[in-house]
Amino acid sequence: MSGVVHKPLPHESAHKHVSGRATYTDDIVEPTGLLHAYLGLSTRAHARVTGIDLDPVRNAPGVIDIITLADVPGHTDISPVGAHDEPLFATDEVMFWGQPLFAVIAETRDQARRAARLARVTYDDLPAAISIDEAEAAGGELVTAPLTLERGNVEKAFKSAPNIIEGEMEIGGQEHFYLEGHIAMAEPGEDGDMLVHSSTQHPSEIQHMVAHVLGVNSAAVTVKVRRMGGGFGGKETQGSLFACVAALAARRLGRAVKIRPDRDDDMSGTGKRHDFKARYKLGFDNKGRVLAVDATFAARGGMSADLTGPVTDRALFHADNAYYYPAVLLKSKPLRTNTVSNTAYRGFGGPQGLIGGERFMEEIAYSLGMDPLDVRKANFYGTEDRNVTPYHQKVTDNIIERVVEELEASSDYRKRRQAIVDFNAKGGVIRKGIALTPVKFGISFTATFYNQAGALIHVYRDGSIHLNHGGTEMGQGLNMKVAQVVADVFGVGLDQISITATQTDKVPNTSATAASSGSDLNGKAAQNAARKIRSRLVKFAAKRFKVKERDVRFANGFVLAGDEELSFADLCDKAYFARVQLSATGFYKTPNIHWDREKGMGRPFFYFAYGASVSEVSVDLLTGEYQVDRVDILHDVGKSLNPAIDLGQVEGAFVQGMGWLTTEELVWDDKGQLRTHAPSTYKIPLASDVPRQFNVQLAEWSVNPERSIKRSKAVGEPPFMLAVSVVEALSMAVASVAGYRVCPRLDVPATPERVLMTAERLRREAGA
Ligand code: MTE
Ligand code: MOS
Repeated sequence: MSGVVHKPLPHESAHKHVSGRATYTDDIVEPTGLLHAYLGLSTRAHARVTGIDLDPVRNAPGVIDIITLADVPGHTDISPVGAHDEPLFATDEVMFWGQPLFAVIAETRDQARRAARLARVTYDDLPAAISIDEAEAAGGELVTAPLTLERGNVEKAFKSAPNIIEGEMEIGGQEHFYLEGHIAMAEPGEDGDMLVHSSTQHPSEIQHMVAHVLGVNSAAVTVKVRRMGGGFGGKETQGSLFACVAALAARRLGRAVKIRPDRDDDMSGTGKRHDFKARYKLGFDNKGRVLAVDATFAARGGMSADLTGPVTDRALFHADNAYYYPAVLLKSKPLRTNTVSNTAYRGFGGPQGLIGGERFMEEIAYSLGMDPLDVRKANFYGTEDRNVTPYHQKVTDNIIERVVEELEASSDYRKRRQAIVDFNAKGGVIRKGIALTPVKFGISFTATFYNQAGALIHVYRDGSIHLNHGGTEMGQGLNMKVAQVVADVFGVGLDQISITATQTDKVPNTSATAASSGSDLNGKAAQNAARKIRSRLVKFAAKRFKVKERDVRFANGFVLAGDEELSFADLCDKAYFARVQLSATGFYKTPNIHWDREKGMGRPFFYFAYGASVSEVSVDLLTGEYQVDRVDILHDVGKSLNPAIDLGQVEGAFVQGMGWLTTEELVWDDKGQLRTHAPSTYKIPLASDVPRQFNVQLAEWSVNPERSIKRSKAVGEPPFMLAVSVVEALSMAVASVAGYRVCPRLDVPATPERVLMTAERLRREAGA
């Protein structure tokens, strides 16, 4: 083999995923005496608990134990951000429908889940704010500190702006719908030790939470994750509840305990993507150039802070998308509501901010009668005086113009748009729409300390390599990419490398695998560890074979030292006898980033990832039904570590984004119960919803100008936002009923119902 990086190799577990042989937490061979826990959940959105009778639960068949807050030996709060607003179990007051009140432990899972429903709880209802509107009407209590981003003189810019528009946009939330739901299994050890298998993106946080709740040192707790069946942000913080309950029960009973909620309870009881309401005022000139933006992004935070702060921050960081705003004032409004605490979800608030920015472009285009693409182009970040973001970071790696121009040409955008305008002019029931939208997404955690990673590599005497790092595998191919990087350092094949479960006792104090930074951070940390071992091997070989260090080379599973050639395994064996250390840890921290949240200034992102998509849709104006006829994508992943995996990420992210923006609708009733808590009422995209023509390309010419791992770019989240072009295409189809002169202001998700009602409204408004 000649090198394994930048190659389109299959995911290391692909064959196991499709044949059912990949081990997820529920597939781990169960320890003897395993017990099962289940949660008892509140059935009020906000109420005083006046009585709780657990006798019927205790007396149910197979029940061994019940745990309430009073039984917790250590800390009773599991807020991931130290806000102390998330009790493990509610006691006197419940804050959302589905909040855990107790856990029951039984011999079988079925016994536990049946028993959990038998509790007799009485409530005194309190006023509940379910929606953003209700929270605002009730005074607008915030769940965490808001952020303001400001640059330029907004007031002055509005004064001189020839055009001003004000509007509002509703942006829906989203259920993660990972195929594997939340789950944890805890195994008690001696001396207070606890091993926890958890489906989590953040093993170190689970470790620390379990330790706090048990009242033991972190060193007593080990968390292990081989893989998740999808996380998508939903397992960044939300696994703590399950891990802590399993560990508490395991400690009390001295037996292993597993907990896996039903899908309905997983959907009702764990956080989702935040829904937002954006209110905006735009000033622009007659050529479609933005002069001033003043916007507030209100979000449904739920009952506790969780990650609402950083999520709403990231919404503001992306409300500019790829556009320069000469004067700008952006504010977040993270509202407390009596709903489950919302959390991370692919894009982390970025998508909600970005679609706001795209609405701005639409408003301008329809008001001036321009092709929205021309408005977009007129506002792209440029050089010198047009490259500063609302958070005062300069955009120095901008490639959006090239990406958009190439896609515009390859997708034949102009010709197809004209054909669609002509088609719609016939006035039939079916209308078509097409739109090209860009994406610019900032890479790095905005909490700077998170941008660090560690790795641990052992090379054995036979040349086989044990690879461990702090990142977690959730299907995104992180382990594969890191293995490619390590194989590259040693010049060996991937068959030499054992990919191992993420484990807190191998690499400590890790960050969540999130913010798309998994391979950037862990790839670098593993490379660092591998290089340490290689340089020891180089020194040894140079001495042994009497050559210069620079004449020792590793390739194709062999080591060349001058005229000597020996297998990598041979060298490792010889090095062992010469007492060379063949194990190393690695570390990495992202350089050149800083962020001052108080001032709203800094360089929070290491670099930006770019992309663009063109979507074409057909809409039936009698029913609102639509289909996506064709999608073309050009996406930037720098110099791809693995083009096959990256292509899969782009396709998957697009379809997941399309689900968010079209069919996935969360509905809470006025009592605060989530009514869409199963696939029967919550519609995620199916294989049949994939666009009929789906042309996805990576920008092969792109190279990350920053010293990222092998000049690649992060890919996990950015392509999610490519789906915005579907909404804008639907919007164009709808706008055709009013001669494209009224912005449809299509809210999302743009369900068929919403599309229909928007078209009807436009007709009325236009008198058509
Ligand atoms: N891809 C798959 N198959 N499954 C997932 O759960 N999560 C996404 C993205 N791609 C996810 C995925 C999210 S939210 C993030 S932040 C990144 O993967 C995390 O992994 P990375 O940093 O290694 O890209
Ligand atoms: Mo991804 S939302 O950062 O886990």
